[in-house]
Amino acid sequence: MSQSAAARDAQAETTPPAIRLESAVHHVVDVLWVRHWTDQYFSFAVSRPETFRFRSGEFVMIGLPGEGGKPILRAYSVASPCFAEELEFFSIKVADGPLTSRLQHIRPGDQLFLGKKPTGTLVLDALTPGERLWLIGTGTGLAPWLAVARDPDAYERFGRVIVTHTVREVKDLAYRDFFTRELAQDPLVGELAAERFSYYPTVTREPFETPGRITDLIESGRVFRDLGVGQTQFDPAKDRVMLCGSMAMIKSVAQILERHGLTEGSNAEPGDYVLERAFVG
Ligand SMILES: Cc1cc2nc3c(=O)[nH]c(=O)nc-3n(C[C@H](O)[C@H](O)[C@H](O)COP(=O)(O)OP(=O)(O)OC[C@H]3O[C@@H](n4cnc5c(N)ncnc54)[C@H](O)[C@@H]3O)c2cc1C
Ligand SMILES: NC(=O)c1ccc[n+]([C@@H]2O[C@H](COP(=O)([O-])OP(=O)(O)OC[C@H]3O[C@@H](n4cnc5c(N)ncnc54)[C@H](OP(=O)(O)O)[C@@H]3O)[C@@H](O)[C@H]2O)c1
Repeated sequence: MSQSAAARDAQAETTPPAIRLESAVHHVVDVLWVRHWTDQYFSFAVSRPETFRFRSGEFVMIGLPGEGGKPILRAYSVASPCFAEELEFFSIKVADGPLTSRLQHIRPGDQLFLGKKPTGTLVLDALTPGERLWLIGTGTGLAPWLAVARDPDAYERFGRVIVTHTVREVKDLAYRDFFTRELAQDPLVGELAAERFSYYPTVTREPFETPGRITDLIESGRVFRDLGVGQTQFDPAKDRVMLCGSMAMIKSVAQILERHGLTEGSNAEPGDYVLERAFVG
């Protein structure tokens, strides 16, 4: 056996398997905590590698080793703002999903792959200046808003920040306490959020005070009335919008926005609204 092969074998005996899988494209990170909201949704956080930089609202690949050690990777919005010490994620549990059928069982101390190239369009830089920032999400499409709504930059750029979250049942309103109470206590944005942040949950499959799909609540003008916005449709001079979640919802809201005179933006060419095209559902 050559000297280098012997050295490799010696190292293999002393290094845990996941650590050896760190590569040019993936970090290996430690799971810090896990919180199960329902049998469909859970959140978790991982350690943040020192070199990992991202903008609030971006997504990154997350994964576990699969058959033969080949990683199973999926895109995940980082739910932490860009300056956070740990990286939080908000996840679906798909019973037969290649990744989440296993990911839903992770525990603190387990290891995950974390891609080295965060990216995405749900970032403040992709929007032109405006008065109100609408962050419209369904299901796990809430994740990027947890990052953007905790970033002081959102309140520097916009006078009002509004998160809408549409889910099937009341129990699916993950982070409801966070948005209704805890954000106003946040040491960085709490004071601003207390005055300028609004949370608008909507529920589609059981009774709720704000019932129905966000598309219908926009079309009827109810969301504007409920939030005390003095208009019944989006105003291209004032409103800026980010969309995340069900692809069908994104498509429908984007059509409404275009009808109201807003134009889509991107990192290269900021505009009035942005969406993450590749999202599921
Ligand atoms: C840019 C981007 C960002 C994403 N961010 C997140 C995120 O922050 N949190 C998250 O849970 N997922 C997110 N996803 C989806 C994620 O990449 C995976 O699809 C999800 O983790 C399920 O993986 P899987 O291998 O278990 O099943 P997959 O084979 O990937 O999916 C199986 C099926 O489950 C459904 N499904 C998958 N993900 C979701 C979801 N999030 N909500 C509702 N239905 C879903 C779809 O119908 C899909 O066809 C994102 C996807 C993209 C493209
Ligand atoms: N409580 C539950 O049973 C439950 C909860 C969560 C997830 N799941 C499972 O997880 C999977 C993903 O579900 P999900 O709820 O996270 O995602 P989802 O099916 O995309 O639904 C999330 C929310 O988006 C709304 N929506 C869907 N299409 C829309 C459109 N075109 N315009 C406007 N709003 C739209 C839904 O309203 P509608 O209800 O009107 O479709 C729902 O309130 C599903 O396959 C489901 O089986 C089940």
